[in-house]
Amino acid sequence: MGEVTFNHVVKRFDNGTVAVNDLNLSIGEGEFVVLVGPSGCGKSTSLRMVAGLEEISSGEITIDGEVVNDYTPRERDIAMVFQTYALYPHMTVEQNMAFPLRMAKTPAAEKEKAVRGAAEILDITNLLGRYPRELSGGQRQRVAMGRAIVRSPRVFLMDEPLSNLDAKLRVQMRGEISRLQRELRTTTLYVTHDQVEAMTLGDRVAVMFDGVLQQLAPPGELYAAPETVFVAGFIGSPPMNLCHAGIEQGPHGLQVRFGSLALDIDQGSIDKYPRASEQTGQNVILGTRPECFSLADESAPEGQCIRGKVDLVEMLGAEALVYVQTDARPASANNLAGTPSGAGEAGSGQPETMKFVARIAPRPLPRTGEIVSLSYETDTLHFFSPKGGGALR
Ligand SMILES: Nc1ncnc2c1ncn2[C@@H]1O[C@H](COP(=O)(O)OP(=O)(O)OP(=O)(O)O)[C@@H](O)[C@H]1O
Ligand SMILES: [Mg+2]
Repeated sequence: MGEVTFNHVVKRFDNGTVAVNDLNLSIGEGEFVVLVGPSGCGKSTSLRMVAGLEEISSGEITIDGEVVNDYTPRERDIAMVFQTYALYPHMTVEQNMAFPLRMAKTPAAEKEKAVRGAAEILDITNLLGRYPRELSGGQRQRVAMGRAIVRSPRVFLMDEPLSNLDAKLRVQMRGEISRLQRELRTTTLYVTHDQVEAMTLGDRVAVMFDGVLQQLAPPGELYAAPETVFVAGFIGSPPMNLCHAGIEQGPHGLQVRFGSLALDIDQGSIDKYPRASEQTGQNVILGTRPECFSLADESAPEGQCIRGKVDLVEMLGAEALVYVQTDARPASANNLAGTPSGAGEAGSGQPETMKFVARIAPRPLPRTGEIVSLSYETDTLHFFSPKGGGALR
């Protein structure tokens, strides 16, 4: 129970804004799907259309095969948890949790059983008699969850439920939500702009940009095989280095050139991006992961490393981020050729040169201003089309 599908769903607001553009997405029974993307990309609007809080301009949303476009929120049998928990201040935790059942005129015994059960799952039985003002942020968050759970809905919808919590509590609650969902197996659609939250929670993650679904995949696949340059630059921390580059024949076979630098393209990269090998003499967007670099000495072979001046070193403890100045030209989903949001080639207002970021072991730690060599795992290069930003698979 609780399968949700979006079929060609469009949301156009009265002012002309297209917040969601032809969304096709299917969330399986009991599945945990996370919608992630930058501010304004259409996440909340998508969720609110499932909840029935926002009208659908065109297309269909179904729950368990039934088109729910014209159903009221109540008829849809879903429960929503928002960023602001909106607990009733004059009600105890118990009364807050029982509230949706009271509205549904659930018999008293059944109501009490549901509240006790949810309180136990959430480990807040000892708080049932307290008022919201007597609770910490994390406890309030749990009560809000409890209020959603008591109804045993077909679907949970959560819109940034953790963003009011401090960093440590957020990590703890993230674990609890994950455990809770596995226990209850209720279909969940969860919205966040935090890619780490998305990657850790989702069975599958749907990445949105500008109202358009970019990719829907399990976390590992999003990381290893991004389908668009936007996903490549969004997933990963720090994100992938993206620059304009050209593919050419080099001394050791195919190589990719960016500014005065070049890397050999190993077969492993070709296997993942077969269309890249057809691009000899063409421009591409090259992606390199910060964690695939390591500090090398000067004897590192040509074609296996990049060289540049260290601009900044950030020591994080177990690892360090090293920013290296290069003469490559940066690329991003916002400056693709032929897209309305970017001028594409020259004159797009982008800085002319780019800093590559490498995530390396902190010993030895390079110094600012030093020229370093960074070797790269040349079987993990990523390639995208500068026209449209699709992966060259
Ligand atoms: N009622 C409205 N009228 C007009 N435009 C709207 C309305 N609500 C949202 N929008 C626009 O629709 C787009 C998507 O908004 P939405 O709230 O879905 O974004 P979001 O991905 O949830 O962002 P955030 O991470 O900031 O919450 C934005 O451009 C927003 O300005
Ligand atoms: Mg939102």
